Amino acid sequence: MNKEEIESARKAGEIVKKIKKEAIIWIKQGMPLIELAEKIETQIVKLGGKPAFPVNLGINEYAAHYTPSHDDKTIAYGLLKVDFGVQINGYVVDNAFSIDLDNSSKNKKLIETSELALENAIESVKNNETLGEIGTKIQKTASDAGFSAIQNLSGHEISQWELHSSLTIPNYNNNSTIKLDDGIYAIEPFITAGEGKVYDGKDSGIYELKKSGSVRDSNAREILKYIIDEYNSLPFCSRWLVKKFGTRALVSLNFLESAGLLHQFTHLVEKSKSPVAQSEATIIINKGEVEILT
Ligand code: CO
Repeated sequence: MNKEEIESARKAGEIVKKIKKEAIIWIKQGMPLIELAEKIETQIVKLGGKPAFPVNLGINEYAAHYTPSHDDKTIAYGLLKVDFGVQINGYVVDNAFSIDLDNSSKNKKLIETSELALENAIESVKNNETLGEIGTKIQKTASDAGFSAIQNLSGHEISQWELHSSLTIPNYNNNSTIKLDDGIYAIEPFITAGEGKVYDGKDSGIYELKKSGSVRDSNAREILKYIIDEYNSLPFCSRWLVKKFGTRALVSLNFLESAGLLHQFTHLVEKSKSPVAQSEATIIINKGEVEILT
């Protein structure tokens, strides 16, 4: 871990903590999701960071990868997950929290369980346990409460400009005997009363650069250059590009995706359409010492 990496990640973590603390209070049932996403993204910039990816706002069975489109009319309700990240010089911290906007005791129990699972997983990291043991802690926290942890979603290692780098942190016992080395990691249990699996839903409007290439179309070329300069290999969304270039950006995004230069993520939806709660934090391990950044 070099000094720049540690300091940038810590600073990004401070921004996350401040926004999260306030957002828990100002997020209200009935608020348009687009307003919610833009408010968080604007605050990130005001506080000296950049969004590491578009704010993800999954309602109920939508576990991940839902961000409002430029003309989104959805309002906040149900079990809402707010997953956002901050980057400074490409050093990323990732985090998520869940809110119950239905005043439902079941939603509240799901949320409490995801928070407890995250705490138990971090405790497991502090005890220098294996990935299999960390996953076991998450799985057991879920089953003790009568729920499941979603198996095909996982935490991840984070590197500069890379939100999901080499290592995966499982939400179940995958029998891995690997222990976490020094580095930055996001841990994110997803808890549901449903089957505990997600499937690929519709296209999300969230993209990531796959590779650079020469493009003949001048609109698409301009937008590709902007993507590379602004986001590098971190995820971005159509809403951001429509804001910058107008709706012609949508045509270019389609074109760049078909040319194989962009990857578009799909919504990830719980298989039995059961509500999902998520809690996520980023930790840094430096010389074996665990520090929670978010
Ligand atoms: Co994450």
